[in-house]
Amino acid sequence: MTTLDIDRLRAETPGCAKVLHFNNAGAGLMPAPVLDAVTAHLKLEAEIGGYEAAEANKPAFDNTYAALAKFLNCATDEIALMENATVAWQAAFYGLAQNFKPGDRILTAEAEYASNYIAYLQMAERTGVSIEAVPSLDTGELDVAALENMIDDRVKLIAVTHVPTNGGLVNPVEGIGRVARAAGVPYLLDACQAAGQVPLDVEAIGCDMLSATGRKYLRGPRGTGFLFVRQDFLGQLPPPMLDLHGAQWTARDGYTARTDARKFENWEYYVAGQIGLGVAIDYLLALGQNATCARIGDLSTALRDGLADIEGVTLHDIGREKGGIVSFSNPVLDPNTVKLRLREQGINCSTSSVSSTRLDMEGRGLEMVNRASVHYYNTEDEVQRFCAALAGLIA
Ligand SMILES: Cc1ncc(COP(=O)(O)O)c(C=O)c1O
Repeated sequence: MTTLDIDRLRAETPGCAKVLHFNNAGAGLMPAPVLDAVTAHLKLEAEIGGYEAAEANKPAFDNTYAALAKFLNCATDEIALMENATVAWQAAFYGLAQNFKPGDRILTAEAEYASNYIAYLQMAERTGVSIEAVPSLDTGELDVAALENMIDDRVKLIAVTHVPTNGGLVNPVEGIGRVARAAGVPYLLDACQAAGQVPLDVEAIGCDMLSATGRKYLRGPRGTGFLFVRQDFLGQLPPPMLDLHGAQWTARDGYTARTDARKFENWEYYVAGQIGLGVAIDYLLALGQNATCARIGDLSTALRDGLADIEGVTLHDIGREKGGIVSFSNPVLDPNTVKLRLREQGINCSTSSVSSTRLDMEGRGLEMVNRASVHYYNTEDEVQRFCAALAGLIA
């Protein structure tokens, strides 16, 4: 395993000199090469024109597809660049939903993300499809055996969130993939929080579709995301919307849609951001995900241990395997006040409320928690400072 030179990585991260950033589940701090690539492209747009700059930087833009293909272990024509994870996920879901009919079933997980669940509810209203959450094991992750038992020929989609927005849970996505493959049911994975936090290999996972965002654990710019659709599934997934980028208007009464994943894209996009996303992926791949992911695991364990030592603090993370998102609460200050008071000290963390992951939070009687999400560029010293600051607030 490569060892990470944390001093160098922090020197390359301008934000590290300004804040103690434990809000990587919101947006990670961009490393300098990403920032430089984005700003250089924006500057070029200002100097020579947006379209001309895109042509001049086409190799850098094309590199983003190549970097993502390497990152996910897929082909470049299985990737669509999107503006965020939600739009990517929606392109897949609403594409599939065109064929839903009454009695069809969607199977999801208890820690499903609100935006996805709202889309299920809308489609339930429109088409009569039913939504069922697969029960979790006592340890918190989705019960793969229960999923297997729920399969019948009315199940038209398995759609789950890999790492939820509200805590350290990591769902067993490969086990879910084996069930989906065996049953021949389309499998859509929301890997928004997982991308950059745990390695993603679409072959090993066995998903047909995967969506994620650029700005969180990948440390890319805001306003970027991507969708993976497996080659042999592309033909079964019509884009819910098409424009002159996803299709060609070939006759007065006819068009021809693209056959690759770019049929889900549209014509105008954030070129600078997407170039930056490619640089962010290359940066991560150069460091090696074995090292980055292991460090995220170590730092989150240290943070959980430190928080557990503070009187009154309750940890809320579930799951046998836990990632970099640490959730907790205390009886003295509500999560929003904690967030704001820490912000006054240059410390970033966030909150997560029941309305983001309702099934999971209601099931555990939680209204709102604090969310402190660590990245590999954080340090053990920051973990200690964070715990000391929190202890000081609630003493
Ligand atoms: C699990 C999960 N899925 C999807 C999203 C949506 O991502 P985006 O804001 O990039 O659309 C989020 C955002 O926090 C998330 O946590």
